[in-house]
Amino acid sequence: MMSLIHVFLFLIFGTLASLAMSRTIHETFIVDKHEQWMVDYNRKYESKLEKEKRLNIFKENLEYIESFNNGGNRSFKLSLNEFADMTQDKFIAAHTGYKMQGNPTLSESTSFMYQNVSDVPTSLDWRAQGAVTPVKFQGQCGCCWAFSAVAAIEGIVQIKTGSLISLSEQQLLDCSTDGGNRGCDGGQMVNAFEYVIRNQGLTTEESYPYQETQETCDTEKQINKVATINEYQMVPENDEEALLMVVASQPVSVAIEGHGQDFRFYSGGVFTGDCGNALSHAVTVVGYGTSEEGLNYWLVKNSWGETLGENGYIRIQRDANTPGGLCGIAMKASYPVM
Ligand SMILES: *[C@@H]1O[C@H](CO)[C@@H](O)[C@H](O)[C@H]1NC(C)=O
Ligand SMILES: *[C@@H]1O[C@H](CO)[C@@H](O)[C@H](O)[C@H]1NC(C)=O
Repeated sequence: MMSLIHVFLFLIFGTLASLAMSRTIHETFIVDKHEQWMVDYNRKYESKLEKEKRLNIFKENLEYIESFNNGGNRSFKLSLNEFADMTQDKFIAAHTGYKMQGNPTLSESTSFMYQNVSDVPTSLDWRAQGAVTPVKFQGQCGCCWAFSAVAAIEGIVQIKTGSLISLSEQQLLDCSTDGGNRGCDGGQMVNAFEYVIRNQGLTTEESYPYQETQETCDTEKQINKVATINEYQMVPENDEEALLMVVASQPVSVAIEGHGQDFRFYSGGVFTGDCGNALSHAVTVVGYGTSEEGLNYWLVKNSWGETLGENGYIRIQRDANTPGGLCGIAMKASYPVM
């Protein structure tokens, strides 16, 4: 009898001990993972306290990513990236930058020049047509709006002239300050288009290079105005069919919700994630297609460098049967006209 109780107690304590041990192993695993991540992304913290705080955020993000990836049949994956020690608020402030507030300077064009387009191929990649420059990196400045506008202008310039020229985001950041654009604190692509029309041109990346911070508008640097546009138009709102007709004709600037956990840690596949329509980020649609598993997608150029997502691109589900499109991609789409 005595020995049975002993065995019983032994089993209980044994289980408790191994539970405690596995928790410790898990914690150690996370600490190690964080250390490695700090090396990989060259991250340093000012104090032990700061490091402790960051470790906790890292842990939450890591656990989210792992449980997502272990969650079974998904069309996309998440992974740790340079944003892994940031809270959502910090992330939105530093890496997105689409602002809903502030009216565009002039009344928006109501015409839609592609309304009768009928030649829409089943898939299209403007990169293959030579109309897309390499993925750029906005860094710690919320001026996605400038990158989105520039990519759309680079596209139409190449389509119309045959020359692919990398154009200046910094000129927009410094000089397109009307209509509620606030530099690294956010802005809208339509204001950027308005500026380029009024200014009668945009110069090259090389002449007016990116500084990751807003500076005084420099008229000397923009003498060589290589790209001009005549107007811009809005894609009819919440209409993915209309968006398709435009993207079949040229790259398009779009606003999206770009700050959720799924979006932030997306590492490849067709994004079908948890994503609403609180527009916070701006990107450029440079194509579309259908994946092997049969999901329609938009091919989206981001401005978070070439290492994120699919070499800097995201495939966002198209025709997701969500009002405004997944992540609100069809809500505020616009394109420059040359
Ligand atoms: C996984 O998802 C795809 C499409 O989302 C579906 O076609 C397939 O049947 C699913 N597979 C399993 C095992 O559930
Ligand atoms: C589209 O077709 C309609 C009917 O033929 C025509 O009235 C309209 O002007 C066309 N729109 C454009 C932008 O060509």
